Amino acid sequence: MDKFVIEGGRRLSGSVKVSGSKNGVLALIPATILAPGIYNIFNTPNLRDVWTMSQLMNSMGAFCELNDNTLFVDSRNLNKFEAPYELVKKMRASFYVLGPLLARFGEAKVSLPGGCAWGPRPVDLHLKAMEKLGAEISIDGGYVYAKAKKLKGTRFNFDVSSVGATGNMLMAAVLAEGTTLITNAALEPEITALARFLVKMGAQIDGIGTSQLEIHGVNSLKPVDETAIPDRIEAATLLIAAAITKGEIEVKDVNPYHLSSVIVKLEESGCDIDVTGDTIYCKQDSDPIPIDFTTSIYPGLPTDVQAQWVAYMLQAKGQTKVTDTIYTDRFKHVPELQRLGADIKLIDNSAIINGGKPLSGATLMSSDLRGSASLVLAGLIAEGTTDVLRVYHMDRGYEKFEEKLNILGASVKRMKTELI
Ligand code: EPZ
Repeated sequence: MDKFVIEGGRRLSGSVKVSGSKNGVLALIPATILAPGIYNIFNTPNLRDVWTMSQLMNSMGAFCELNDNTLFVDSRNLNKFEAPYELVKKMRASFYVLGPLLARFGEAKVSLPGGCAWGPRPVDLHLKAMEKLGAEISIDGGYVYAKAKKLKGTRFNFDVSSVGATGNMLMAAVLAEGTTLITNAALEPEITALARFLVKMGAQIDGIGTSQLEIHGVNSLKPVDETAIPDRIEAATLLIAAAITKGEIEVKDVNPYHLSSVIVKLEESGCDIDVTGDTIYCKQDSDPIPIDFTTSIYPGLPTDVQAQWVAYMLQAKGQTKVTDTIYTDRFKHVPELQRLGADIKLIDNSAIINGGKPLSGATLMSSDLRGSASLVLAGLIAEGTTDVLRVYHMDRGYEKFEEKLNILGASVKRMKTELI
């Protein structure tokens, strides 16, 4: 397994490009099931999760190949409709094949994802949505069995806003008979991009970009090429890396609109921010102002930036409260940060940070994707050397991240380790 060896105390400066969106691409790939054909998905990041999704598609008979950030997909020979446990467990987004498999083949066998590092990740909304569209759902041996001769348009309200369940329902409804009305649909840019991709394929969807989507089912769709949107979470992570090191960087190839709430918070913390076109400039030349951070659904503060903000507020002299309303137990990074000397208390779904304390390097263990990013950010400012173990978590969602940080002046070495 690899670890990162980080020398703290270096100020970041310079310019870096953001990769394509992991969560954007993980929604587009299952959509290629809906129309047999050949697709090129440009700006695809070279990430473990993309490899896992490709492996899942190939296990069902498709052919996926990633070359220089272009993912080639041939979905003509799909002949299996099963997402096995070992892949769904590895990556919950594998569950997103349920809707498209049902729409194209009328059947699907998908493993329940179970929990993840930070706790339970239910799929009840996905299943309720499929049943409302007319699918027969049964669960046996940890697998969801779904069957539907023909999905039928319906009305469905998401009692809880769900990115994945909205995507699954969208991909099922585009080939259903009749019209489907989804209310309280997720507004995340990755869902808007999925809807636009489906329309390019010939789907009829009204209300794109709003929380009320009206889908008029069509008989068939056609394969088209697409370019993945920029990764808003990577962009936010890089901006925080600049801010935490009192640096000055510009992040390019971004859609600033997709991370407006984070930009506002960075400004409130004392950063000098300039947004021009697809570039965000960020400069922080003093300790950050302690700024509370409460996650919510888009366009609010993303839960996927919560761990990074906790790390950032270690620099702020004073008390900060970071609350996650989406995943109330997504705080595996906190005990590891405490090993650096961080003064953080966990109360319910909030981290109370008393920042400004000196941090000294230590060996830290990653346990999930964004938590590992938090540990890397803290390592950038801890005195001396910090080893972050199990960086395969980082590799799931950040493309060449240590290279990007080193271009900006950090010292992050990737090394092999026998340590677990
Ligand atoms: C997507 O996960 C993202 N993953 C997550 O990013 C992100 O944290 C999450 O959305 C929230 O923004 C991908 O896009 C691949 P949800 P998803 O369904 O779709 C509850 C990362 O770091 N819920 O929007 O699984 C759920 O428990 C990853 O890149 C149900 O109750 O998230 C949570 O509290 C981590 N029942 C809330 O909804 C369901 O059936 C939001 O979850 C589904 C969800």
